[in-house]
Amino acid sequence: MHRRKLLQSGLFTIGALTGLPHISLGAFGNQPLPLDKEGNIIRSPLVREVLPGLRMDPPALLAKLNANENPYGPSELAQKAVNESVVRGNRYAWKELFELINKISVKEGVPANHIMMGPGSSDLLEKVAIISFMKGGNIVSADPTYMSLVNVAQAVDAKWKAIPCKEDWSHDLKAMLAAIDGDTKLVYICNPNNPTGAVTSGKELREFCLAVPETVPVFVDEAYMELATGSGTESMVDLIKTKKNIIVARTYSKVMGLAGIRVGYIVASPEFISKIDKITRGGMGIAYTSIYAATASMDDHAFQEMTIARNNEVKKFVCGNLDKMGYRYIPSYTNFVLFPITVPGKKFLADMESKGVGVRVFQVKGKTWCRVSMGTMDEMQLFVNTLQAMS
Ligand SMILES: Cc1ncc(COP(=O)(O)O)c(C=O)c1O
Repeated sequence: MHRRKLLQSGLFTIGALTGLPHISLGAFGNQPLPLDKEGNIIRSPLVREVLPGLRMDPPALLAKLNANENPYGPSELAQKAVNESVVRGNRYAWKELFELINKISVKEGVPANHIMMGPGSSDLLEKVAIISFMKGGNIVSADPTYMSLVNVAQAVDAKWKAIPCKEDWSHDLKAMLAAIDGDTKLVYICNPNNPTGAVTSGKELREFCLAVPETVPVFVDEAYMELATGSGTESMVDLIKTKKNIIVARTYSKVMGLAGIRVGYIVASPEFISKIDKITRGGMGIAYTSIYAATASMDDHAFQEMTIARNNEVKKFVCGNLDKMGYRYIPSYTNFVLFPITVPGKKFLADMESKGVGVRVFQVKGKTWCRVSMGTMDEMQLFVNTLQAMS
């Protein structure tokens, strides 16, 4: 079928979008994309993602600002660890995995049996969705939010209760609490949230977690927590010591700079972890080299501090320029910024790409928004120049 016809028919699949390496529906690579009449991906009741024009080859980007990656990583220590450990790649890494888990357990202040590792936190988001919704039920989350867990939950038949974010883009915890009913099998919170970059107050989130009935797990995705300096929010990890239904996800993809090396974990009660262990191979998916990279990265405090400092510096530069150009961005506590644009989404993406800049464009609440990840200062200068030329 001709590509345009495929698009119109709504049968276009992620697998067929060879030119869109950054767009993924995880497990749904061969599933038809839910498209609206204009060919935008329907992400949620409030969100559509605008796709760039179709082409066979991915563009050669000078500034890859479309996946919230760390432009400085992996750290030199992590690279060295990968290089040195590759020679032992013929062995399963059980012992090394347990050593890494023990290291994380000290960092998080919980016993080792509260930790499950995965090749990226995506793996665990998906596993949790599968074990939670095998027998149906509903999932409560914000809208907009990060869709990985929600997508898999819906694929295994969950109903999604999408609760619009508040005016300030924080989670509407009151409405989320009210939405929980006898069929709710999980609440998903992303704090700081993607794609908005906004935070929900640590104090309010803590009260919310304590108010949710023990029978309903609350999954708090803290992928960007280390970058949320000065935000007034905080990790919910310590709640796990007193409340069994809290699950916290962390990743090595952001502040540690290991997105392509794939390491993440959840902290949860041993009871919850054993539910995942019963039907999956738990941490089996992590490569020997990735375990070494993660271990080395945890010790490289200087690299993490440099990442946080540069991210804040670059974000200040970008937001200062957005201010000057009159764009009203959402205050960001992450390594990306979401701001409304007036140029039509496809043209915006094409103009950015023509200068080698890759960003994402969403429609949220009827407005078109650009989500730009923080790259190096040089990359952001190119982004700002390109945006200025468009304004
Ligand atoms: C909120 C959030 N959670 C989880 C992930 C997945 O991260 P990974 O699978 O690389 O650990 C991402 C990736 O961008 C994210 O934004």
